[in-house]
This record gives sequence, C-alpha cells and structure tokens, in this order.
Amino acid sequence: MFVQSSYIPAGTILVADDQVSNRELLYELLVAEGFHVIAVSNGAQALAQLDSTQVDLVLLDVMMPQINGFDVCRKIKANPGTDLIPVIMVTSLSGKRDRIEGIRAGADDFLTRPLDRTELLARVRSLLKLKFRTDELERAETVVFTLARSIEGKDPYTHGHCERLADYSASLGIHLGLPEEQVTALRWAGVVHDIGKIAVPDSILLKPGALTTDEWKLMRQHPVVGDRICAPLKSFRLVLPIIRHHHEKFDGSGYPDGLRGEDIPITARVLQIVDVYDALTTVRSYKPAFSITDALQIMKHEVTRGWWDSHIFEHFEEFMRNGAARFLSGGTAAAAAAGGVL
Ligand SMILES: [Fe+2]
Repeated sequence: MFVQSSYIPAGTILVADDQVSNRELLYELLVAEGFHVIAVSNGAQALAQLDSTQVDLVLLDVMMPQINGFDVCRKIKANPGTDLIPVIMVTSLSGKRDRIEGIRAGADDFLTRPLDRTELLARVRSLLKLKFRTDELERAETVVFTLARSIEGKDPYTHGHCERLADYSASLGIHLGLPEEQVTALRWAGVVHDIGKIAVPDSILLKPGALTTDEWKLMRQHPVVGDRICAPLKSFRLVLPIIRHHHEKFDGSGYPDGLRGEDIPITARVLQIVDVYDALTTVRSYKPAFSITDALQIMKHEVTRGWWDSHIFEHFEEFMRNGAARFLSGGTAAAAAAGGVL
C-alpha cells in the first residue's frame, strides 16, 4: 500500500562547534554535497535551533563551553520531539571513555578529528537514509491514525470512543502486568481497531435499527479489512492481532476466525472487555447508556455465557474498584436489554 520512494532528499544538518575553523570546514564540505546546513557555535543555540527548525541530523562537537556535546545529545534524546534525529558526536579525543559517555548519552555514531571526508559523508548519508525511512513510517502511521479517527468522527454516538479505549485498555494491560510493548500495542489498537469500517457504507454504519443478514455479513468483515490495511506497517506487528481478533468470543462464537479461549491473543481479549464496557456505558444509535453497575452485571452474565475471558474480566472489575471507574464513562441507568458492540 505504501510505496517507498527511491528518492532521498539531501536533508538539513545542524552543525554545533565552538571552533570557527571546524564549523566552517564542516559547513563548506556539507553544503558542497547539497545538504542544507545550519551552523551554530554552542549547545544552547543548537537546542534552540532544534526547537524551531526541522533538522534531519546533528553533528555535535563534544568539547563546547557551558552545555557540552554529551549534555546536548542527552537533551535531544530525552525529548520525544527530537529523539529520532540521528546524532553524530565529533571529537578530537579518540579515548574509549569519551565514546562510552557518548553511547550513554544516546549518540548514534562518532567521528574523530582530523575528519576524513569520505568517512564523514558515508556516515552522514547512512544515518540520513535511516532517518528518512523512519519519517516515512511515521507519516504512514499518521495516515492510519487519521483515517481511524475520521471513521470514529462519522458517528456522533461514538465520539471519544477511540481515545477512551486507548487509555483504558493500556491501563488494564498494565494492571494485568503485560509487557510494555503489548501495552503500547493496546494503546494504538484502541485508536485503530475499527479502521476496517472504512469499507462499510455509512447507510449500514450509522443505521439506527437492526442490520439485515447481508449488512451484518459486510459489517463482520471490518476486522479482516483493518488487518489488511495495517499489515504493511512493521511497527503494527503487535497491533494486527488485536485489530483482527477484537470480535472473537471465548467460546468460539465470535468472528472473523471463530478462535476460542486462549487462542485469542491476550491483547485482543483485553481490548474487547473495555470495548464492550464502553459500548454499554455510552449511548449508541441502537441503545441507551447503561450505568456502570448495570454494564458490569450484563458483562458478568456474558462471561457466564462463555463470551469473555473470566480471568481478565475479574481483573477489570478489580481495576474498576481501585478507582479506574472515575475515568470511565458512566451512562444513565437503563433497564433495556444488553446491546451488542459492532
Ligand atoms: Fe469492531
């Protein structure tokens, strides 16, 4: 789906060095190779540039007054807005201690003075290639998230559903002691799990009444379509099983693959508990909002029917008792029958 372009733009390089001669040498060399270069004379100016300009790579002198290169590098890597920018540390010292401190500060590469032109350009180009690939993936992820939010935006009844799901399922994942990468996958899946609904016409998606058999058939395809849309994104490796299996049921009666029990990925079982809860406690086109107590009662009944993982549901109830309820959307009590989650 996402075509990788073979064109690699030259890129913007920030050079920070307090020695005028070093700065000029790097500036002229890189400009001659077609790069856009910003040269500054200290760490504070480097950080200010990073705040205001889109930079693709930083060449940092280690020995600078006030904020030295290591500290600048640490600040770059500690900031989520700049941590993916590659940093090359340039030093006159070839000592091991310097390199170790540079690695600890998060530097991506090192160059030792006197600089070798060929080596410098090879390292700069190699790190820039990686940076542009990361940018491309970030753009693809942004498109996917935007698409997912635009689908949510179509239905006034599900407003805020994605964000709530992202927060609550990640919190429940932490409560269950899941590894960090699965918690992150849950956070992302909260937003994108229903992206496959892009293939469902609005007349079905927003239909206030019950769906016909054919309409249901189409609706039940959304986890498969979502899986297909997100499959090219390597960073979505742990998100894909959640997208595909968030409508499976513990007794095997769910869709699209009829998985049962622990064959359903644990992350999908976590998301579906929160998804069902959120659907029950908010107004939908086909049902009123239930109170927290009623929603939990309904879900408990569904656990005994074999739909949801009883162990995860117990944790969810405990999680609610421990104060999570104040974050969760509580609707007005309603006596109507349980509504499903589309
Ligand atoms: Fe869904």
